[in-house]
Amino acid sequence: MQIKVLDHYTELSKQAAHIVIDTISRKEDSVLGLPTGGTPEGMYKELVEQYKNGEISFSQVTAFNLDEYIGIPQNHTQSYYTFMQEKLYSHIDIDSKQTHIPSGEATNLELECSRYEKLIDQAGQLDLLIIGIGTNGHIGFNEPGADIQATTSVVHLAQSTIEANARFFDRIEEVPKQAITMGLGTMINKSKHILLLASGKQKAEIIQQLLTSQEVKSELPASVLHLHQNVTILLDREAASLW
Ligand code: GLP
Repeated sequence: MQIKVLDHYTELSKQAAHIVIDTISRKEDSVLGLPTGGTPEGMYKELVEQYKNGEISFSQVTAFNLDEYIGIPQNHTQSYYTFMQEKLYSHIDIDSKQTHIPSGEATNLELECSRYEKLIDQAGQLDLLIIGIGTNGHIGFNEPGADIQATTSVVHLAQSTIEANARFFDRIEEVPKQAITMGLGTMINKSKHILLLASGKQKAEIIQQLLTSQEVKSELPASVLHLHQNVTILLDREAASLW
């Protein structure tokens, strides 16, 4: 595990974007795993800027998102589909056929999960999987108690996640209670390099728990990262403050 502490969120975002650009520069048809949430927004902004400056092309890249809500339409302002269009895809030269997000609107959700997992398998290993972390230790939407070997599946959101994500919705009742998420097994077994980003003091406690023990336990889903050989963690000072 390589851990870097950056002074500020802006530097963390630049570093993260640099790792993405480096990955694509080495292999233009890279397969990426991409997160949503507040944390990666700065990285996406930086990537869009670098694209506009002619520093990077996404034309050969394939991308898989970590997760999507169930119970809101794809075009909802808070769907992860909309997030990705707004923050990244509508600004860069990526072919829409190359961008994948599970569909939370599928009539057969189990079938949608296996379809998604097969797509990942067909793409080969994810060259770079970028993730954030929930204050309860979730990655993607793999909540405490998640199966460490799980592939893409339908999950129930923890109450703490619903509360944390309520800031994006008008009322907490509007936050979906279920999601489709790439599984912990998918992340660990099907990625060559995992990049975890954490920013802000609200992440300090979970980062401390994650980094002070090597133990892998389903109560702390992010602890599966200890099973992977190539993990980079970027923290800002606040997220690293209790470590
Ligand atoms: C969300 C997403 C995660 C994300 C996490 C943290 O619920 N499903 O993929 O990493 O919560 O979000 P934030 O970066 O806004 O703290």
